[in-house]
Amino acid sequence: MKILAIETSCDETAAAVITEEAGRPRAISNVVSSQIEIHKEYGGVVPEVAARAHIEAILPVIKGALEQAHVKLNDLDYIATTFGPGLIGSLVVGVETAKGLSVTSKVPAIAVNHLEGHIYANFLANGEPEPEFPLLALLVSGGHTLLVLVKKHLSYEIVGQTWDDAAGEAFDKAAKAMGLPYPGGPVISALAQKGEADRFQLPVVDLTAKPTRSEDGFLVHPELSLDFSFSGLKTALISKVKAGITEGDKKDLAASFEAVITKTLVQNTERAINKYRPKSFILSGGVAANQRLRKEVTTMAKRLGVKAYVPALDFCTDNAAMIGAAAFYHIKEGLTSPLDTADPSAKLKQIS
Ligand code: KG4
Ligand code: ZN
Repeated sequence: MKILAIETSCDETAAAVITEEAGRPRAISNVVSSQIEIHKEYGGVVPEVAARAHIEAILPVIKGALEQAHVKLNDLDYIATTFGPGLIGSLVVGVETAKGLSVTSKVPAIAVNHLEGHIYANFLANGEPEPEFPLLALLVSGGHTLLVLVKKHLSYEIVGQTWDDAAGEAFDKAAKAMGLPYPGGPVISALAQKGEADRFQLPVVDLTAKPTRSEDGFLVHPELSLDFSFSGLKTALISKVKAGITEGDKKDLAASFEAVITKTLVQNTERAINKYRPKSFILSGGVAANQRLRKEVTTMAKRLGVKAYVPALDFCTDNAAMIGAAAFYHIKEGLTSPLDTADPSAKLKQIS
């Protein structure tokens, strides 16, 4: 089986070719053209600029992925493309290009949800065993922070989510407040390595309600929440910056911020593992590239006796190989959806 995968949901134009290896998807090419340098000037992604940059990059990126894989358009079995969620102008470029290629080559075009792609980055063949079900996924990106229980292929139950900012968004906004460039995650992370994480006090926001008292006087402890909130942490950081910080303080503030985000993510993941007792834990999304998070979350999972998987760094931030991996299992399970229109607010389809 040969799948051409296309991803253009935000600010990376990406294409990859996926084949089958021992029943698993393997990326035989993976090309990503990043727009970071273009958006840096504005301190974040400008949707209109992103859409135009995708238009320029899409055909050379697809050509590059096919050439690297030594595959021709007519050799393909499927063209799999992200249809959402993401920026509408960006998504449309990938979706319409795929539909055009599908018409000319008569290769069927299928739709893949970007969030499924992030989860399935952990299923790309890499010499490790395939993650076992039921599994718990922590999906942390610029737009999402989700704890997802996956009982079998393509069956998702969201058990925790953010009430406000996503983890990656919090990194990006914190960096902006500190006068650091976009994207904030890698910059804060690099700075944090030189800083002291206990220098600044920042809040770990825990969305557990206070215990109540029943009519007969007993304390009733509500269930611990698996949801997240990062906007209070962001505000706390902004207050520290406004109160005045020196250039030298930035590394310590970055380290404190990264430590608190990590602690919050690990704490809720631990609760979810204790509640659902999955066989595997997988980390995914752009923030999964964070070394501190990778280390602390896998250490915690190991302590609880759950096998943990983290994707290779190239498959954490947006890429098309992960879209091809998700498509591979859609095809295998006989659950493909034809590519239709882009849906910027597409949800992870919950099937139980
Ligand atoms: O998955 P992704 O490439 O795009 C979305 O689907 O949103 O994630 C991008 C996010 C950005 O917010 C970026 O700051 C964050 O991932 N990120 C990181 C790191 N590398 C990327 N956050 C923390 N540490 C990193 N090393
Ligand atoms: Zn993403």
